[in-house]
Amino acid sequence: MAQRETWATRTGFILAAVGSAVGLGNIWRFPFVTGEGGGAAFLLVYLLFIALVGFPAILMEFVIGRKTERNPVGALLKYGGNAWKYVGGVFIITGFVILSYYSVIAGWFVRYFLEGFRDSYGGHLEAYGEAGAMFGDLTAGLDAFLLHTVFMIATVGIVALGVRRGIELAVKVMVPALIVLLIGLSVWAFTLPDAGAGYEYYLSPDFGVIADEWTDILPAAAGQAFFTLSLGMGVMITYASYLGEDRNLAKDGATIIGFDTGIAFLTGLLVFPVLFSAGVDPADPGPSVIFISMTEAFADVTGGRLLGIVFFGTVAIAALSSAISLLEVVTSYAIDEIGIDRWKAAVGMGGAIYLLGVPATWDIIFIDLLDYFADSILLVLGALLLAILVGWVAPQVAVDELEKGIGDLGGLGQAWIWAIRVPIIIVLIVSLYLGLVEYAEFLSGDFADWLDANL
Ligand code: PHE
Repeated sequence: MAQRETWATRTGFILAAVGSAVGLGNIWRFPFVTGEGGGAAFLLVYLLFIALVGFPAILMEFVIGRKTERNPVGALLKYGGNAWKYVGGVFIITGFVILSYYSVIAGWFVRYFLEGFRDSYGGHLEAYGEAGAMFGDLTAGLDAFLLHTVFMIATVGIVALGVRRGIELAVKVMVPALIVLLIGLSVWAFTLPDAGAGYEYYLSPDFGVIADEWTDILPAAAGQAFFTLSLGMGVMITYASYLGEDRNLAKDGATIIGFDTGIAFLTGLLVFPVLFSAGVDPADPGPSVIFISMTEAFADVTGGRLLGIVFFGTVAIAALSSAISLLEVVTSYAIDEIGIDRWKAAVGMGGAIYLLGVPATWDIIFIDLLDYFADSILLVLGALLLAILVGWVAPQVAVDELEKGIGDLGGLGQAWIWAIRVPIIIVLIVSLYLGLVEYAEFLSGDFADWLDANL
């Protein structure tokens, strides 16, 4: 094999990692799980989780990737020994499942983008009567299927050709554009009649709610944190495997988390005032929350049609840079471990992933079926296994690797390892258990009902 590439520019790695992290997790998923989790109560647990678990966890993936210079499966094998390659297998399955429905949702954003060319969002709103009806019509059926197809072809094409350069450039434009847009729209949202109630729901936590509902909130926050940071399935291992030893991993990790969390937080500042002002209960609409609130917003603001086109288009590109990272993990595994060429690997894996996503274009229940399983179970399991590897199996290697590019960490290195060893592992085990219980409830409840009604 040719010599392993490293990132072309110093910022290349950060851009790719931010490009992977920032995506549908921030814009689509964050506001609806926050809405379902009780608003501020969820937000608080989520932010704590990001800081206390997400940050140590991103460092684990960075050190494993940089130390081993391998794809996740090869990396775990080299870092932990033979048995650990099966953990890499969990990662590959996770990437498979996430990308299958991720592409369907990205297709919805493309659809809303295209709708802006047909009519203003206000015009659509009038034609449908309400934003929820528009969502229902646009996101299931033949059109959703076609856009899922188009989005997967684009993802496979980019990964097959190995053209990451263009994506780094796109991220450079897209992330600032998204931030400016979200800030602008949040200022507008501030002027809405019921903005105050929206902020109250989003920002003022009720500790009673946390105490009563922590068994729901914890697994949801864990799943959301790993999903939004692209953690628990080897993306950050892969990206760090191309990294030079001079990088300060802690600083890079903090930068990536800062951008990702900032964008999610801004999205909430926009969404909740809009929902309250439109009289929508934020816990109700689930996966349609962002589409409903944005349709309302773009129907109302001046220049809404153009802003809407820019917003939905930008999110679609943000989704593409995340989708690429998901397929890259699966593809690099097939290239390195099965020994097929890049083109065949991307098309073969991409094709299979595409098929798994097709049912989700037919009924939204399949989004829940795949999403809960991937986030609250697979990603948490992946992170737990990594924590065992770094915390217990090979901790000193990890600390030594982290110190490259930073210098002597002294007690901080040990503090990191001990945080992983006990508290983080316990939190992850509890989250995983609760996630499994909830998923079993979903399967025997909502999903079984759906099967009864439809088959
Ligand atoms: N982090 C991405 C997002 O927020 C999704 C993702 C998850 C990408 C896991 C790669 C791995 O949209």
